[in-house]
Amino acid sequence: MKHLLEISLLTPNDIQSILKRAADFKANTLYPRYTDNVMANLFYENSTRTRVSFELAAKRLGLTVINMDLQNSSEAKGEIIEDTLQTLRAMGIDLFVIRHRQEGIQAQIAKHLGEQVNIINAGDGTHAHPSQALLDMMTILENKPDLSSLKIALVGNIRHSRVANSLQVIAQALGVAELRLIAPKTWQPEKLIYGQVTDSLKEGLFDADVVIALRVQKERLEESARIDLSQYRQEYAITEASLKYAKPDAIVMHPGPINRGIEIDSAVADGPQSRILDQVTNGVFVRMAILELLLNSK
Ligand code: NCD
Repeated sequence: MKHLLEISLLTPNDIQSILKRAADFKANTLYPRYTDNVMANLFYENSTRTRVSFELAAKRLGLTVINMDLQNSSEAKGEIIEDTLQTLRAMGIDLFVIRHRQEGIQAQIAKHLGEQVNIINAGDGTHAHPSQALLDMMTILENKPDLSSLKIALVGNIRHSRVANSLQVIAQALGVAELRLIAPKTWQPEKLIYGQVTDSLKEGLFDADVVIALRVQKERLEESARIDLSQYRQEYAITEASLKYAKPDAIVMHPGPINRGIEIDSAVADGPQSRILDQVTNGVFVRMAILELLLNSK
C-alpha cells in the first residue's frame, strides 16, 4: 500500500493487519528503524494531537521528521501544493502527512505524484480522517472485542465530521452490529454510509456499549449549520445523567480536542468510563503501523 487516503480503500484484512501491528507495537518496545526515510508534516489546518502523534510515531521508527511552518508557507505565496511537494521531494523527503481543508486533495496529489512518494491523509475537510478511525477501532477492540454484538453510539455534528465518516466506513468493514448516529436535524448526515440516524439522545444511547462524542467545531461551521450551543448541551451533552442511558460498563470516547461543558462534561471525560487518553496513546501505535506499512511497500 503506497498511500493511506481513506478507509474505504482498505480491505477488512488490511484494517485487521494494521490494528494487529499497532497492538504489537504497544506490547513490544523493540521497533524497526527506518533511518533513511524522511517524513514531512504538512498541516494546512490547525492540529496539535494528530501532528504530534505522527511525529512521535515516525521518530520511534527512526525517521527524520520535518514540520513545515505553513503559516509562512509558499501556499500563502500562491504556490500550489503539488509544487511544494515536488520541491520537498527533490530534497529527499518521501513521505507526506497532509491535513487540508479541501476535500480529496491528498487523493489528487497521490494521483499526480503517487509513484514517487507516500501520502497519508490526516484529514481532508469534512470528508475523511482514516488514522482517527483506526485508532478509534483499536481502542474499541481493546475494551469490547466482539464487534458482532456491539452497539456504538456517535453523538454530534455527524454531517460535517470527517471523524464520523471514517468511523462509519470502518464500522461497516469490520461488521459492527449497530452504529447509531445521534444529531439534531441540521447536523444529520446528507449521505448515510452506515448505521441508523436519530435525533434522540436517549434512544441512541439506549443499551450502547461505546459512546463517542464529537467536538462541536465552532470554527468550521457555516452560518447555516450553527445551532444554539446551550440548547445543544441540554439535549445532546454526554453528562453523568445522560450516560446512564447506555450500558453500565459502556466506554466513552472523543477524538479531541474536547469542549468541556459543551458536548461532554468533565465528570465523564475524566471519569472511570472514559478512554479518551487511551485513544491518544493508541494513536501513536496505529500511526507507527501505518508508516511501516507504507514504507515497506516501496
Ligand atoms: C478531529 C479532526 O481534526 O478532524 N480531531 C483530531 O484529529 N484529533 C476532530 C475535530 O477537530 O473535531
